[in-house]
Amino acid sequence: MLRVPVHKIQPGMILARPVPLPSDPFRYLLQRDIEIPMDLVPRLKQLGILEVWVRHRDLEFLEEIIDEELSDRQREVYMNVRRNFESIMHDSNTELDMVNFQQSISELFTFLKKTSCPDILLQKLDAFDNYLMSHSTNTCYLALLLGMKLERYLIDQRRHKTARDAKDLHLLALGCLLHDIGKMQISKKILHKPGKLTDEEMAEMQRHPNYGYDMVKGSMPAPATQIVLNHHQRFNGTGYPKRTDYKTSAELPAPADRQIPIFSRIAIMADIYDAATTRRCYSEAKPPVQVLHEMRTWCRGFFDPVVEEAFYRTVPAFPIGQIVTLSDGVEAVVVDFNPDYPVRPKVQCLRTPDGRRFEHPALEEIDLALHIDLEIVSVDGTDVRPYMASQESAESVLALV
Ligand SMILES: [Fe+2]
Ligand SMILES: [Fe+2]
Repeated sequence: MLRVPVHKIQPGMILARPVPLPSDPFRYLLQRDIEIPMDLVPRLKQLGILEVWVRHRDLEFLEEIIDEELSDRQREVYMNVRRNFESIMHDSNTELDMVNFQQSISELFTFLKKTSCPDILLQKLDAFDNYLMSHSTNTCYLALLLGMKLERYLIDQRRHKTARDAKDLHLLALGCLLHDIGKMQISKKILHKPGKLTDEEMAEMQRHPNYGYDMVKGSMPAPATQIVLNHHQRFNGTGYPKRTDYKTSAELPAPADRQIPIFSRIAIMADIYDAATTRRCYSEAKPPVQVLHEMRTWCRGFFDPVVEEAFYRTVPAFPIGQIVTLSDGVEAVVVDFNPDYPVRPKVQCLRTPDGRRFEHPALEEIDLALHIDLEIVSVDGTDVRPYMASQESAESVLALV
């Protein structure tokens, strides 16, 4: 199967996965195995659905790699968050439903642990109609994947705990799920403003970690509440909120480096990545390769280097199933991720430069890590070359000169 951007859907394409309804993810807008009706394509766009999975004769093996159970687990987390957040919106006295959150997090975590290579699954929740809730779910999921890669570091950084407790990720997931809950107290006018925020509006927006912390502090343990308070703290000390001296109320500098709890150092990466790869009222969704480039360049210094290294080895610049164009003009599909060469995945050729299909069984697989004369140049018509150099590994760059 292939990931096909909605605007590239063509007559005759058959769905390999159902398309859930963004307003009710347990109901399907379109079932699997049906031909996508062309008159429904504008509706898909309108609903914010960016891509669909379609069948492809020579790529059936991807259907086994990309496990559907992941989407089910993610949807359950999302629905729990949504039910609870919506009742809080209607009645501010409603309590956070920690028991349900913990249960759906546990199911997602158990699923990820039993999967032999969970990062190959890396895919965000389908398009859902509420940004705060889907962003919370995605941040929780990404942080879990990242935390699983960082077990040893967690044991080192949380020395006051036994090794078993230090690498327990339930509270990381819970804190990430609720990291932006303080945004429920920010006015919709500011939250959904399409243009640039004024200084006052920005100051109010930056209070959401404090608002959130006040909402959760009595109801969950400190490692999780600290994420709500500290998920915008940057490793180089340029984050927010600033601290205040509780005796004098004087402003203290924001924490930096290892003063920031390790779970928050993980949360900030998952948070920034998900926000940038999602469509918002003020910006379009950016492709992963662009976001990863921006995180490596514009956000230099924001992240704990150990967490950062693990992140780039977890999140693929080109997701499996994505269609890309190579520098020789061939259209290909990404079939694997190589953490040592993040922008040089394995691909399988689909079409020749003049648009002819590679005929079965002559589909050619190319490992771009071994073919340094070839590279990915565009994704869905977007030139990605400006984003590549920052992500080439030292070895492959050296090999090119
Ligand atoms: Fe936030
Ligand atoms: Fe966030």
